[in-house]
Amino acid sequence: MSDDRREHWNEVYATKPADSVSWYQSVPQFSLDLIGRAELAPEAAIIDIGGGASALAGRLLQSGYRDITVLDIAATALGVARAALGAEAGRIHWIAGDITAWRPQRHYALWHDRAVFHFLIRAEDRAAYLAALRAGTKAGSQIVIATFAPDGPERCSGLPVQRYSPQSLAETLGEDFALVESGREAHLTPGGNTQHFQFSRFSRRG
Ligand SMILES: C[S@@+](CC[C@H](N)C(=O)[O-])C[C@H]1O[C@@H](n2cnc3c(N)ncnc32)[C@H](O)[C@@H]1O
Repeated sequence: MSDDRREHWNEVYATKPADSVSWYQSVPQFSLDLIGRAELAPEAAIIDIGGGASALAGRLLQSGYRDITVLDIAATALGVARAALGAEAGRIHWIAGDITAWRPQRHYALWHDRAVFHFLIRAEDRAAYLAALRAGTKAGSQIVIATFAPDGPERCSGLPVQRYSPQSLAETLGEDFALVESGREAHLTPGGNTQHFQFSRFSRRG
């Protein structure tokens, strides 16, 4: 399963321009706003799960954050992201890995995921993701997760997704993660379609 997933995503980033995929954003503003409201210190550790070729890591660098990690199953995605950042790429930690198999070696003050968790439609994959989330965060860590909303698409990149409301996501994460705030974004794809996302910020209780 993991090999199929890796192959799928490597192929996507090897064959499609980064600004042509449906999830492309020139500025990940909703994420930046939620991360800003987490009020992190510049040295706080931030990880973008399934960051792909997103502009988020570069924007966070520009905002003054100094400890940024991007993890993605597709090494090709990380290559695109690094190339876009040029010399600045050396200031970011890059991890090629599957979140359902990866075990964090440290705690992150902020865990960000836009459009990754929703691909985990099997209970065992969600449990593995949650194990990584628990290992990679501690009490007080902030978690920002964006998924397709209940009225969002049923598939992305040809793959089925599980849609969430902030409440159903909170139930899935469990009571150790308190929902702090949430919002909806109508994302306009490069192809001109609108996709409804929910963004939720959680604080880890214990
Ligand atoms: C829809 S894209 C979103 C990319 C990015 N977060 C953004 O907002 O532009 C999903 C990303 O998750 C990555 N991905 C999918 N499954 C993954 C997994 N099991 N572990 C790590 N990354 C994964 C893909 O390679 C892809 O970059």
